[in-house]
Amino acid sequence: MVEASSLKMRELVFGLPEQLAEARAIADKVDYGRGGGFGRVVAAGMGGSGISAYLIHCLLADRVPTPIIPWHDYSIPAAADRGSLFFAVSYSGNTEETLTAFRQALRRKCHVIAVTSGGRLAELAERARLPLAVVPGGLPPRAALGYLFVALLAGLERLRICRSHRADLSEAVKQMAARRRVWFRRAGIVASGLQERLPLVYSTCRLLDAVAERWRCQLNENAKVMCHVNVFPEHNHNEVVGMGAPDFIASRSALVALLDSSTGARVRMRLKNVLGVTRGGYAKAMRLESEGRSRLARMFSLVMMGDMVSVELARLRGVDPVPVARIAELKRLMAEAGR
Ligand code: F6R
Repeated sequence: MVEASSLKMRELVFGLPEQLAEARAIADKVDYGRGGGFGRVVAAGMGGSGISAYLIHCLLADRVPTPIIPWHDYSIPAAADRGSLFFAVSYSGNTEETLTAFRQALRRKCHVIAVTSGGRLAELAERARLPLAVVPGGLPPRAALGYLFVALLAGLERLRICRSHRADLSEAVKQMAARRRVWFRRAGIVASGLQERLPLVYSTCRLLDAVAERWRCQLNENAKVMCHVNVFPEHNHNEVVGMGAPDFIASRSALVALLDSSTGARVRMRLKNVLGVTRGGYAKAMRLESEGRSRLARMFSLVMMGDMVSVELARLRGVDPVPVARIAELKRLMAEAGR
């Protein structure tokens, strides 16, 4: 059973470029509504859906003048008002935090767009005649990242929050399809370095902060392990002191630094120096550089690498990457308790 299921997640991970290309064609047909001059964008979602909003934030935050706020809670920011564009992103359409945030956004008269494969969110959006981006269903939400990410990006393009990313997306798709076999071999090596160790995943530039977070989520859900994430240079002002303690962490942690061409020379120097001053505080250190020309292609090169590492680590650990029994159990318990 573990075998067949692992294979399925591996195929889904391998299929990310095709999913991104298909997502673009789907998004081109979506009516995102009219409007413009939004003061801010809020994108609310949890887990495998919410990460798409965080990736969008990291891709665009230092490129577009409109603040893009990724949000992962029941309540919405006080700044969400009638001048705000609000995305409710829930793959299943039934996540209670996202549904609650969605209802609040309607009450605040935001320009609300629902992104989902169905469920209650689709019903409510249809009933209220709201813009609705429907993505194909039947996947574990985290394996629908390509659909959700592109649905958000296309909405932002259409409502003139950002420029077109069509060329960048096709670069990403082509690169991922061409490089995936090589990356998968590399992912196997990284996964063996993480085996029986606590992964410490460090982002070294703002483009990769959400990518590090995606690594954590995928290692949690696919490989069923804990994972710690932090960002440079902030790490150098606190965590550097705690590294290697308690003692068992020192021999049982493996560090993965995610680097990009936008990682500055000073931050690269910081990484080298941190590895030096904390020597003995971790069992292994690995560096991974993003690949590609555009920011989007570079971002997704390391998203795909993290996804691959998570399925490889699941295989090494002999666990089935697909089911997330505890998430399902928690959702059931919360639903049973009522509101
Ligand atoms: C990912 C996963 C979870 C969900 C999260 C929210 O595969 O199972 O992280 O994404 O529980 O659910 P949705 O995405 O349906 O809103």
